[in-house]
Amino acid sequence: MKLPFSWRATAAGAVAVATLVAGGSVAGAAPAAEPTAAAAAPDIPIANVKAHLTQLQSIATANGGNRAHGRAGYLASLNYVKAKLDAAGFTTTVQRFTASGRTGYNLIADWPGGDPNQVVMAGSHLDSVSSGPGINDNGSGSAAVLETALAVARSGHQPAKHLRFAWWGAEELGLVGSRYYVSSLGSANLAKISGYLNFDMIGSPNPGYFVYDDDPVIEQTFKDYYAGLGIPTEIETEGDGRSDHAPFKNAGVPVGGLFSGADYRKTSTQAAKWGGTAGQPFDRCYHSSCDTTANINDTALNRNSDAIAYAMWELSQ
Ligand code: TRP
Ligand code: ZN
Repeated sequence: MKLPFSWRATAAGAVAVATLVAGGSVAGAAPAAEPTAAAAAPDIPIANVKAHLTQLQSIATANGGNRAHGRAGYLASLNYVKAKLDAAGFTTTVQRFTASGRTGYNLIADWPGGDPNQVVMAGSHLDSVSSGPGINDNGSGSAAVLETALAVARSGHQPAKHLRFAWWGAEELGLVGSRYYVSSLGSANLAKISGYLNFDMIGSPNPGYFVYDDDPVIEQTFKDYYAGLGIPTEIETEGDGRSDHAPFKNAGVPVGGLFSGADYRKTSTQAAKWGGTAGQPFDRCYHSSCDTTANINDTALNRNSDAIAYAMWELSQ
């Protein structure tokens, strides 16, 4: 049993009587093999997340080695993600914008149902830099958010709040896609967003476990997940406002997120508690051509993928 979630009162306020969401079966959704509590988040299959990364790598390889804004590899990445979501029953929207003289695209996926005045969002940037395939930055977040969305569909999950997932274009040009989305929403629609969760680099090869120090409820949700695994976390310090949560935060939306580290070096204290190599960057291939499928720590990617699902389930009921 959970207490009513008093995280952020929406302007719309009155969510009448707490209607019981019937845990009814959803046509087409196969029942889970192991019985779980009605609203428990599923384990996100790491093999599925890695299969998405393999596809993003292939897309980069077939398109000049990158998936950057304005290049063929970006649109191919977007079409890959969109096709999976469409097949799973999401309502997808492609939002176009212009940056540096080229067309960019955001992909928004809404899961039908839930209170439209209380939207819980997860997002990640789908573009790479032009110098490499961008598998950790940010295939990792993109693949994990995609697999979380697909897990929502597989489980027939119908939370009280409305779920929305997003893949941003042109983050590497200065958060262009997410800024465009936030400015396009308008204040009334922005006020309906209960929280925005950002995932940018979550499978770093020499990983740290960093939680954004922003909305306290979102932050605590991620900390609870990691406490349950017995893994210490730290506050993210590689640069506040350096990813797509910043436009949301600036517009007054509660934000949070996870990060496994970019070009900062792991200290000996961090290596003692997390393993890995002290004195080396969390991601030595950050923004480089070696940010390939070999540049992923599976354990970090697995834990962070499960943490996304945990937070989306916890914060939406
Ligand atoms: N957003 C950066 C990029 O894509 C990576 C990054 C650096 C980052 N510091 C961060 C992401 C802190 C999240 C939080 O190049
Ligand atoms: Zn990034």
